[in-house]
Amino acid sequence: MVEMSKNTFIVIPDDFKGFNLDSFCVPKHYEDSLETVLIPYGIIHDRIERLARDISLEIGQEPLVALCVLKGGYKFFTDLLDKVNLYNQYSSDSVPIAVDFIRLKSYEDDKSTGVVQVIGIQDLCTLKGKNVLVVEDIIDTGRTMMKLLKLLETYQPKTVKVASLVVKRTEHSSGYRPDYCGFEVPAKFIVGYAIDYNEHFRDLNHICVISDYGKQKFGSAAVKNSL
Ligand code: IMP
Ligand code: MG
Repeated sequence: MVEMSKNTFIVIPDDFKGFNLDSFCVPKHYEDSLETVLIPYGIIHDRIERLARDISLEIGQEPLVALCVLKGGYKFFTDLLDKVNLYNQYSSDSVPIAVDFIRLKSYEDDKSTGVVQVIGIQDLCTLKGKNVLVVEDIIDTGRTMMKLLKLLETYQPKTVKVASLVVKRTEHSSGYRPDYCGFEVPAKFIVGYAIDYNEHFRDLNHICVISDYGKQKFGSAAVKNSL
């Protein structure tokens, strides 16, 4: 891969109140559990279009393996690759792209458990000697990504780049920054566009801030109490 130029990202400031829920279509079953719409679906798509262009221009001529970090990364992954493929389709120097998947889990409720579980790891030996693009939903402390990158190293890829749709501005950051980033957001717990809270809200299109009531309603304590 060609060394990347300084890619920009959209900064959503701490004092941005977000959009009123009533201004957008939100599934009825989540209406009482959200505070605001932070990033509407349309803007997510427009931003991904540009990321796809930046990535397409920078990956060069060599084949690429796009590695999706499940489950949260699945929407970003498919939308990003659709747009990269479209770019490839009209370009005179297109590159073949293979896909692979890995599943990581580190959160319960809105807290990192501190333990990053790698679930469903497949045979990543196919990454050996390849240019790999890791596609992730959100980077908070950066610990998950640093752990994954360490793991990937053992498979001896040629290069590894990371695209994360969102990076959180947090005092707990390890300092890790991805190569490509869609949005930098305040340190609030966000859901939607496949980003979850205890597996809920993946079926919400916009990226929203969860409300305190939503945390309570879908919290692990509520689930355990109902068992
Ligand atoms: P990190 O290791 O602290 O960077 O956490 C990364 C992972 O935590 C992400 O891939 C998400 O799965 C999860 N995560 C972090 N912040 C949020 C959030 O605001 N909403 C939902 N999941 C989050
Ligand atoms: Mg994730």
